[in-house]
Amino acid sequence: MKPQKTQEVAKNKPSSSILIIDFGSQVTQLIARRIRELGVYCEIKNSKISIAEINNFNPNGIIFSGGPCSVYEENSPTISKEIFDLKIPILGICYGQQIICHLLGGEVGKANEREYGKAEIKIVKDSPLLKNIKNYQVWMSHGDKVNKIPLGFEVVAKTDNAPFAVIANQEKKIYAVQFHPEVVHSIDGAKIIKNFVVDIAKSKQEWTMKNFKEEQILAIREKVGENQVICGLSGGVDSSVVSVLISNAINRQLTCIFVDHGLLRKNEGTEVKKIFTENFDINFIYVDASELFIGRLKNISDPEKKRKIIGKTFIEVFNQEALKIKNAKFLAQGTLYPDVIESLHPNQGVSQTIKSHHNVGGLPKRMKFKLIEPLRMLFKDEVRVLGKELGLPDIVVGRHPFPGPGLAIRIIGAITIEKIKILQNADAIYIEEIKKAGLYNEIWQAFAVLLPVKTVGVMGDCRTYESVLALRAVTSVDGMTADIYHFDSHLLAKISNRIINEVRGINRVVYDYTSKPPGTIEWE
Ligand code: XMP
Repeated sequence: MKPQKTQEVAKNKPSSSILIIDFGSQVTQLIARRIRELGVYCEIKNSKISIAEINNFNPNGIIFSGGPCSVYEENSPTISKEIFDLKIPILGICYGQQIICHLLGGEVGKANEREYGKAEIKIVKDSPLLKNIKNYQVWMSHGDKVNKIPLGFEVVAKTDNAPFAVIANQEKKIYAVQFHPEVVHSIDGAKIIKNFVVDIAKSKQEWTMKNFKEEQILAIREKVGENQVICGLSGGVDSSVVSVLISNAINRQLTCIFVDHGLLRKNEGTEVKKIFTENFDINFIYVDASELFIGRLKNISDPEKKRKIIGKTFIEVFNQEALKIKNAKFLAQGTLYPDVIESLHPNQGVSQTIKSHHNVGGLPKRMKFKLIEPLRMLFKDEVRVLGKELGLPDIVVGRHPFPGPGLAIRIIGAITIEKIKILQNADAIYIEEIKKAGLYNEIWQAFAVLLPVKTVGVMGDCRTYESVLALRAVTSVDGMTADIYHFDSHLLAKISNRIINEVRGINRVVYDYTSKPPGTIEWE
């Protein structure tokens, strides 16, 4: 089906919103997730945000996140006291509670012991924040604690260890909790956030992907004008959604370039080509550059070298095609909100490089394009909903993530065409069986890895000496951490059997039982 041009048009930004001020907690994103699940738009901003910027954002409510620092330390993140005069409801969480108390004349000090884990709150005073709470288990994680609450505040709930677990200045609508309502271990935490966002801050639950799509279509049209846009389409969820969204806005002013490096999953190149040329009215350029890539990767075993060669070659090939498009002024990218938030973090850039070049689509700044990143305010699951709204098939919208360097980092050691074929065939059987068992959507990522190890086997009456294949499957929310997926062992046995019988070159299959950390998801 060809996409419909949007008729109804949302005029402007969401009618309600919440501003989350990030004081450096590892789980700030979860606050945003909980709010978006309520159908309310929210953004996370660094604590350096100015009062003028807050006024400009004009939120219905403000949430102060937790954070790792101590309010009384020099250079710990803080915020202007004027924020309390804006007459906007505020909820402080953990460090957020401490900063409220510290700035408004209370006292914060070191707790005798770090408190980490479950606690039970006892409600001592009625408050709209704790309305309809039925389960009192909350999750604590803090080293400091409030010793004296500011004037005008009262205690709403306590725990055995925390006399100020929940405090409120009901008149000024400033609330603060010592625990983390955003994490699942605070059983009714999502309700507490809803009470704040919907009842106290009076946000309307009107933020939907349909509205978002319409707003973005308008914004893209306005930004692009008469110019041309190019987009590196990989067939993954993010770049597919970006492409279709932009094509809805500007039709054939968009050209998508799909570079096939020859290291894709079995039939993937043909499938992507089919989906985009048959279902959508898009300028689609398919570049088969597999010979070039595989030639350059010959005899290369080092994973970082593989990544660098692939990244460099990708840019070269993409650039060549892009230069053929006249008046191309914009480059569309599928940047997501977690990448944007990451760049807000105070210590970003200092973490160690575990794997370089996580995004083959990341083109160098010297390419003189302006960026269009219409997904930069969305989380992955929201992108999937948007994809469905745009009419993308489930096979694209629900596809497991696939690394830019593709099978190059799943063939351990040097790459040959024969090894690519073996891995593609084995991987296809694995995924087919997972889909047949109805498990594909439960798993974040499942794939096979071809090892440079040969072992002895016996097939029929003959001795074999062939490669070992490892299977990996993990669950995850964002790929940053991951858990092992626990298959039924009979299913694993069936998959192993099929692979050994059907794929010549493999005579042993093993399953990877490593979470991340300490392992990474990919093997290289
Ligand atoms: P790791 O292996 O670092 O992977 O635990 C986390 C997520 O990132 C993907 N990944 C990559 N994606 N280029 C990419 O575009 C890469 O070089 C790359 N390495 C890993 C991986 O598939 C997983 O989803």
